[in-house]
Amino acid sequence: MARITAGVATSHVPLLGVAHDQKKDRDAYFGPIFAGYDWTREWERSEKPDVVILVYNDHASAFDMRIIPTFAIGCGERYAPADEGWGPRQVPDVIGHPDLAWHVAQSLILDEFDMTIINEMDVDHGLTVPLSMMFGDVAEWPVKVIPLAVNVVTYPPPSGNRCWALGEAIRTAVASYDEDLNVQIWGTGGMSHQLQGPRAGLINREWDNRFLDGLIGDGDALRHIPHIEYLRETGSEGIEMVMWLIMRGALGDRTQALHRHYHVPCSNTAIGHLVLRPDNGEGFDMTGSSAAELVAAR
Ligand SMILES: [Fe+2]
Repeated sequence: MARITAGVATSHVPLLGVAHDQKKDRDAYFGPIFAGYDWTREWERSEKPDVVILVYNDHASAFDMRIIPTFAIGCGERYAPADEGWGPRQVPDVIGHPDLAWHVAQSLILDEFDMTIINEMDVDHGLTVPLSMMFGDVAEWPVKVIPLAVNVVTYPPPSGNRCWALGEAIRTAVASYDEDLNVQIWGTGGMSHQLQGPRAGLINREWDNRFLDGLIGDGDALRHIPHIEYLRETGSEGIEMVMWLIMRGALGDRTQALHRHYHVPCSNTAIGHLVLRPDNGEGFDMTGSSAAELVAAR
């Protein structure tokens, strides 16, 4: 059967894609940011996931005010990088996994999550920047990807609790797919940031790190954070973090952190990155990790 073996959380700041594409990822400014992903690139090489369910938000590239799906799942064969105003990123097309995606869509909808099904769309930095951070410069992405888009751009976004529950339903869906697949789920976006208005540049290190803490172990308090708290404490774009809760919900009751990275600033945001294992109470497969790199707590 298919199984979710790990969860990865990461910011998807567009500037990271620019730095990667212009080969500035090791300069004085970007070096400390990208260094926090070196461990994960090694780990992904040993994990060899077959499929990533990649939770992200579109930034007016595939969707705009004409159509705003709250939750959308990509069931297509492939997705091209979107032109976000400077031409498409010169990165590989994203190859889908239609069979698993349709299975997950069916399971979710019959589980009463009213997913929008997308067969054709371009994917923007929200999806391609995490792939670059995790896999670097490659001729083709080493995984199939099922895009799962969440509206966090136009009010009202879904609640954290609904996102967590969607993750739980995704876990059930994947576990009922009758093929031996190593599936990861990634949650992207965040962390604290505000792009406009008098509070532009707002960053809240303390809140961000409490959020990272809350993803580790068996607590589920994060699912109950109200929208207004994200707005007050993490700025107008911090609500992207509800997408991390879909990832967390898909990992079951308990998690252990394998790797953690937090850095300020990146552009005018805080970036965070976390690699989690589901803890099924039967011990961990620590493939690709070492005791020194195992981060159980900050
Ligand atoms: Fe975003």
